[in-house]
Parts: sequence; structure tokens; C-alpha cells
Amino acid sequence: MNDTILEIRNISKSFSGVPVLEDINMSIKKSEVHVIVGENGAGKSTLMKIISGVYRKDKGDLFFEGKPVQINSVQKALNVGIGIIHQEFNLLPHRSIGQNIFLGREPIKSNFLKVIDHDLICKKSKELLDYLGLDIDPRTLVYNLGIAQQQMVEVAKALCFKSKVLIMDEPTATLTRKETVKLFEIIRKLKSEGVSIIYISHRLEEIKQIADTLTVLRDGRIVGDLSIENASIDQIIRMMVGREIKDQYKRQYHMHGEEVLKTENLGAKRFSNVNINVHRGEIVGLSGLVGAGRTEIAKTIFGEDAIEKGSVNIYGKKYHRMSTQKATKLRIGLVPEDRKEEGAIMEMSIRHNIVHAVLPRLFKSSVISKKTELAVATKYMEELGIKAPSVNKLVKLLSGGNQQKVVIAKWMCADCEILIFDEPTRGIDVGAKAEIYGIMSELVERGKAILMISSDLPELIGMCDRIYTIKDGMVTAEFSRTEATQEKILAACV
Ligand SMILES: Nc1ncnc2c1ncn2[C@@H]1O[C@H](COP(=O)(O)OP(=O)(O)OP(=O)(O)O)[C@@H](O)[C@H]1O
Ligand SMILES: [Mg+2]
Repeated sequence: MNDTILEIRNISKSFSGVPVLEDINMSIKKSEVHVIVGENGAGKSTLMKIISGVYRKDKGDLFFEGKPVQINSVQKALNVGIGIIHQEFNLLPHRSIGQNIFLGREPIKSNFLKVIDHDLICKKSKELLDYLGLDIDPRTLVYNLGIAQQQMVEVAKALCFKSKVLIMDEPTATLTRKETVKLFEIIRKLKSEGVSIIYISHRLEEIKQIADTLTVLRDGRIVGDLSIENASIDQIIRMMVGREIKDQYKRQYHMHGEEVLKTENLGAKRFSNVNINVHRGEIVGLSGLVGAGRTEIAKTIFGEDAIEKGSVNIYGKKYHRMSTQKATKLRIGLVPEDRKEEGAIMEMSIRHNIVHAVLPRLFKSSVISKKTELAVATKYMEELGIKAPSVNKLVKLLSGGNQQKVVIAKWMCADCEILIFDEPTRGIDVGAKAEIYGIMSELVERGKAILMISSDLPELIGMCDRIYTIKDGMVTAEFSRTEATQEKILAACV
């Protein structure tokens, strides 16, 4: 009992009368990695937000180091010793790394003049970045960082507080394998220094590597605790979703149709001389490390970034210039990597978001009826299992994974011929992943063409007909479905 650092007792929480957490009991031990898993919308982030002072609980008690604590603000949580790295980052893009780490508690040079000590910020931030093994100048603006680096800034920010309990809400969702390995090293180091980590992830295969204890949440309740030595991944999945998931990747392979997308010596800011193609009925993968240029290639094809060299050929026609309007007219869709920034309109309803991409098209035929809109939105909401009381719920009120499903639904209902998916299953639970793979398979069965970027190698190998590897903005290899193995792909990526 005395090695418990944080005790959660009978915590309940509702949002506008809808219960999200019911009677949660959990104890976090000193120096342990306590993993929490559960489907999208199970209540994981809500529970973490209660512990870290973002939300107020309706009922229940918290004990820290054996004493009852009232955590009613983020500041209070930090003072007690509980830090959190949120699923959605909270960084200010136009400030430097150092300014973000010390935001709201900047060291002052002299009490009289209240001048911020930028040198000290810089020095201390550098130490933190060094500790994390990152070779970046702390004066770099966050705006210029990739997602993985931003994630590390969040970690640095949390470390800076010397938390005794550090919550990580899906820290690896945006990281590649190499960066994940590095994060795990940091977690082990923190653990050896007596820090407890509460760790949330949908990447079940990594849990075995890092967890000491595992708690499964389903529909706002604890279904069980497992000691990690005795738990198998299948068992965890069964507890999470209440059913077995077999054959996630249900692809059928046929002859391909005509070539619909081709890049010819395509070059732009971060890549050059890219020659790739996709046929109807085909899923083609792009593999590579974060920052290799995969997302930039996708954005250039979709007209978001300018073509600098070469061309994009669509249905055999050459384009030296592309815009998102033109791409949308040509029935190209892009499910972006950064769904918060570029994907969903947070202040709007699920219904509006899903129908948004197709609105112009529905308009062309006739005036859009509320009925059609409702029917379309409801269909996709059900198909993807978006968890919400109604299609009118605002997207910002959904759980992280459900927000992503909304963006995917939006492009799926846009009836595109060529679909580009950038990390489609990031942050998505196992059950919904299988649904998304199913829908992708169905799309190519119907003759659509898919280009898929993913850092999840088993997923790429399971889903793709062919895989290109990208390194430093160049295509380094191409593998057919039968040739592709994780080892070969990794070797071509690094
Ligand atoms: N501020 C809010 N207002 C209303 N409902 C909310 C709010 N925050 C969360 N919810 C609802 O609470 C439920 C649990 O959400 P939560 O974010 O805790 O899920 P999660 O387990 O973290 O899921 P994910 O794996 O998708 O991140 C969801 O149904 C969500 O819509
Ligand atoms: Mg969450």
C-alpha cells in the first residue's frame, strides 16, 4: 500500500448528463509504467484530464502519497507533482521551443525591472533537450518543427516541472519506430529516477515492451487490470472491444486497372525526382521516417504545395501546376496527417464536417436537402463507429480518435477516385482500424486508387499491393506485396 503514489477512488464524470466515467478506482505505484487502454471514446483522456486538473470530477477522491488532495486546476496538479502531455498538443507555433517550455513561468532577470531572462531560458531548455537527446537550437520556432519534434518539446515541458507522476496521452501516435525507441529510453530513465508514468496508447504491440501494469477501460468503466507478464495481446483486445478481431487486413488481390496517378520527376521543397504511380484497384504505400518527405509528396500531388519540377499526371493528363480546387475537381482526396490543423472544423458539427467536402457536388445536382445531409452523415457515422450521441455534436467535443474518424468519413463520402491517406489509423483503436482497412479494401474493389502513407509497417505490408520507400526526399526502393518484409523496408528507409 505504501508504494502507491496516486490513488483514484470512485471517480465519476458526466458531460451534459451523459456519463463518461463511472466509479473509477485505480492505484498508481511509485516508479511504475501504468498503461491504460480502451476504445476511442472510452474515457481515457477524460480521466487523465481530471487527474491533471483540466476537468473537475463530479464525484470521487484523489490521494497523493497517501494524503487526500483537491486538484482543481492545472497549476495545482503541477504543484502536487502531476504533469501531463496531452493527446492534442498545446504549443504556441510562433514562439520558440524555450519560450514554450517556460510559458507562464519565465525566469526574471531582476525583480525590479521584470525583464525576462532569455539566456537562462535558452540554457535550461538546451539542458532539457540534451537530456532527451535532441540536437535542436532552443530558439527555433515551434512552427518550424515536425510533429515528432513538437512531441519532444511537450515532453521537455513536462520534465521541466519535475513531476512525480507523468501522464502521457498517446505520446507515440505521431512518432516513428526510432523516435519511439528513444522515448522508451527516456521513460525507463525517468522510472529509474522514481517517476511514475501513466501511459495511454492504441499501439498494443508496444505496450508489452513498456508496461508494468495494465488497466482496460470500456465505456467509462474499468473492465479489468492485468499484470503484463500474463496478458496476451489477443486477451487485451478482447477486453477492450468485447469481441475477437481476426484478419484485420481483408484484402483481395485482382488485376489492376489503368494507371490514374503518376508523378514524373516530381520535385518540390523537400523532395526531388520522385517517380511513382498508382493504378485503379491498387493500394500503394509510401514508407519512410518522419521528415523523409512523404507528407510533402502527398501535399504536392493534392495541390497544397507547389510543384517545382516535373509533373503530376492524372488519368494520363500532365499537370505542371496543381491546386487543391483542381485536385478536388479531379476527384482526388487527401486525408491529412495533421487532422486538427487541416482536417476537421472543430467548431462545427459532425454532420457538417462529413458533408462539407461534398457540399459543392451535392449542390450541382440540386439544392441540398437537410434530409440527404442527415442521411449521408448518419450512414458514415455508423459505418466508422463514430461514438457520439448525435450527428449534431460539435467535433471539438469528441474524443481524439473519433475526431479522426470524422475526417476520414468526410473524404470517404466525397466519392473520390484517387485517395491519399496520410497516417490513416493514427490514434484509432483496434476495432475501428479493422473497419477502416475494410473500407479501404472495398474502395479499391470498386476501382478506386489509394496512396497510403504510414509509419506502421505491419499495416503497410498488410494492406498494400506495392510499397515505395522514401529517404531524404528520394525514392530509394520499390517492393511488391510478395517481396515486402519489415527488414527490407527498414533497410531501405535508413
Ligand atoms: N468537453 C466535453 N464535452 C462533452 N463531451 C465530451 C467532452 N470531452 C469528452 N467528451 C466525451 O467523453 C467521451 C470520452 O472521451 P475521451 O476523450 O475521454 O475518450 P478517449 O478514451 O480518450 O478516446 P480516444 O482513444 O479517441 O482518445 C467521448 O464520448 C467524448 O465525446
Ligand atoms: Mg483520448
